[in-house]
Amino acid sequence: MRNYHYRTLDELEVTGKKVLVRVDFNVPLENGEVTDDTRIRAALPTLRRLLANGATLVLMSHLGRPQGPEARYRLAPVAERLSALLGQAVRYQATDGPASSAMQEFALAAPPGSVTLLENTRFDARETKNDPELARILAGYGEVFVNDAFGAAHRAHASTEGVAHLLPNAAGLLLEREITVLGELLRRPAKPFKVILGGAKVSDKIGVLRNLLEIVDEVFIGGAMAYTFIKARGGEVGASLVENDSLELATGLLEQASSSMVSLHLPEDSRCATSPQHPDDLMVFPSNRIPAGFRGLDAGPKAIAAFQAGLADAHTVFWNGPLGMFEFPPFDAGTRAIAQTVAALDAFTVVGGGDSVAAVNASGLQDQIDHLSTGGGASLEFLEGKTLPGIAALSRP
Ligand code: 3PG
Ligand code: MG
Repeated sequence: MRNYHYRTLDELEVTGKKVLVRVDFNVPLENGEVTDDTRIRAALPTLRRLLANGATLVLMSHLGRPQGPEARYRLAPVAERLSALLGQAVRYQATDGPASSAMQEFALAAPPGSVTLLENTRFDARETKNDPELARILAGYGEVFVNDAFGAAHRAHASTEGVAHLLPNAAGLLLEREITVLGELLRRPAKPFKVILGGAKVSDKIGVLRNLLEIVDEVFIGGAMAYTFIKARGGEVGASLVENDSLELATGLLEQASSSMVSLHLPEDSRCATSPQHPDDLMVFPSNRIPAGFRGLDAGPKAIAAFQAGLADAHTVFWNGPLGMFEFPPFDAGTRAIAQTVAALDAFTVVGGGDSVAAVNASGLQDQIDHLSTGGGASLEFLEGKTLPGIAALSRP
């Protein structure tokens, strides 16, 4: 794993300065309202510390993957929620992008001690190209730069990577905590270290599985990705989602697990239906004998009991990805059961990824997990051992 070097927030002089802060406010919205503000709350300690130290804040974030300025991806609802959480007005103006002339005028007029949120950085097509001219304009909004956007640290974009080369900089408190906690998982996890991976695609998790198989004691696989492994072992998975072009990769991972002496558990049974919208024909089948027409949509009762028993003696647990089609109840049962189990463990527990964190929040268990990572892709790439450009670009102290 890579060793990162960066200044901490306390090592950066901010009093009386304009501080440009990259945050990850890429939050879910519904009807123009923020439906989960975990990522906004997670940035508050850094923002509060900077304000208490006499800084003026200019914040930047992306939201979604817009193609140019798109009204539904404006940051207005985010500015509103941030203002309520901070207990301070947040200056925001809807514009065509973070570098428009209206935005420049607005940002440069920020009064001392104020908080300004720039418009969605991805409204500007130069953002994802890490364009130096855009980075130069963004850097012009501040005298120093703080990166607290762990969730976007795996992206080499103008607002994450580009600006870091142009201003004195530091890691925010959230970024620092994510690096510390996830770094501990790779370096010296308390053993037994057990990992639960779910979600739809094996192909998204190959890198992290390869790396973790060298570190962990046991792996529990759920979600639709399990069926690719089950089919690779010769099981009949009916109409379950399978990535046929990943079957060989799945076989390779099963072989790696056995040669690394890691037990890799697949769900013994599945809750199945003909479609997630038709729970009326829900039936439980062995996961390797699912009849034609039926899809495995959630872990079955035997699978959950086995995962629970296997996790009981863990001292460290990392969980990423739902165990079933969480967004279609009753196929959220397995994911919710695992959320309860992980929360109740007497172990150091880390949960990452939007859906698994949402399951923890929906069950009101957030205070019983040691670390809820704000990174989905970023936490996976970190645990894969990849270099995250948003962190690597920060200067050495
Ligand atoms: C995320 O939600 O994973 C981050 O905010 C990064 O978003 P992206 O995957 O659209 O780059
Ligand atoms: Mg993502």
